[in-house]
Amino acid sequence: MLKKKSGYVIAILGATGAVGKETLEILEERKFPLSSLRLFASKRSAGVELSCQGRDWKVEELTPAASFHGVDIALVSATDTISKEYGQRLAAAGVIVIDDSGVFRMDSDVPLVVPEVNAAALRLLPRGIVSIPNCTTTPLVMALKPLLDTAGIKRVVVTTFQSVSGTGAAAMDELMTQTKDLLAFRDAKTEVYPYQIAFNLLPHIGSFGDNGDCSEEVKIARETRKILDAPELLVTATTVRVPVLRCHSEAVNVELYRPLKANDARAALAAMPGVLVYDDPNKKLYPMPLDATGKDEVYIGRVREDASVANGLNLWLVSDNLRKGAALNAVQIAECLVTR
Ligand code: A2P
Repeated sequence: MLKKKSGYVIAILGATGAVGKETLEILEERKFPLSSLRLFASKRSAGVELSCQGRDWKVEELTPAASFHGVDIALVSATDTISKEYGQRLAAAGVIVIDDSGVFRMDSDVPLVVPEVNAAALRLLPRGIVSIPNCTTTPLVMALKPLLDTAGIKRVVVTTFQSVSGTGAAAMDELMTQTKDLLAFRDAKTEVYPYQIAFNLLPHIGSFGDNGDCSEEVKIARETRKILDAPELLVTATTVRVPVLRCHSEAVNVELYRPLKANDARAALAAMPGVLVYDDPNKKLYPMPLDATGKDEVYIGRVREDASVANGLNLWLVSDNLRKGAALNAVQIAECLVTR
């Protein structure tokens, strides 16, 4: 457990990546009590300087010989292999690990946390590891929690529209390069995704399982049930990669146990910390990725009753996947750990 101090030593594994860079900005914005930062990435980034809280910090190569002596909390957002290799090792050395990968999320002795929804799960850290959810699960549970508390939820059907930044910095480059090449009548090179992403969309995120579900779809269902502590909740997802740089959007259909008027749903959602209801069809007001980019809140609009099932409700949400979907959620967990 963390001792109370005026500043903490934070390590970021994957500091040069899309999430890592966002983490540095958020630590600065929120004036996280830092005494020192240790930044780690691959060999190619060693020596690069990144700034945070008015100082430049040198990136170190992450190697098995790296010492984590004195580190209080490690924020890990690199690759699954790095999480597997270093997560347990860091925790065994007494470092609290906040991990962004799918490696530990479903382990029963690892809390999977969205502070606005289940901060209480942080009370016990038997392995010294906390996982943050998949970047689509986090905004989804923020929307579902107030509905669950108000009217109970039987079934959730969600379709996601996920930006390329969810795949990392190389995928952002790929979308921009393909777009430029195609507009200049050149062939588009495809390296990160199996097909061209510019002017296209891919109904495929992660790997396919035996029944045809993508791993991302399975993650959303399992993680949602774990975070909401609702093992019976029925969840089905279709995950789609879209040619958007930043922010994930989700079309969510919910079957509730009890009737809930759209206005009452809006009120319950608006009362949820971290949620912004942005919903006025008469003024063409609904959230889009450009609205939520760089923002902390989960934006929710298009809230309406669905008459095709008993107690049905539709909504649309948009959230910045690099912020609330990853870096912000991890920093909020670190804040909970240092202030409790
Ligand atoms: P680097 O930038 O040096 O490659 P993204 O998700 O945006 O692709 O970022 C992935 C992050 O994980 C980057 O900081 C990247 O560092 C880091 N990373 C990837 N592979 C390794 C590795 N083998 N060792 C250390 N860091 C790695």
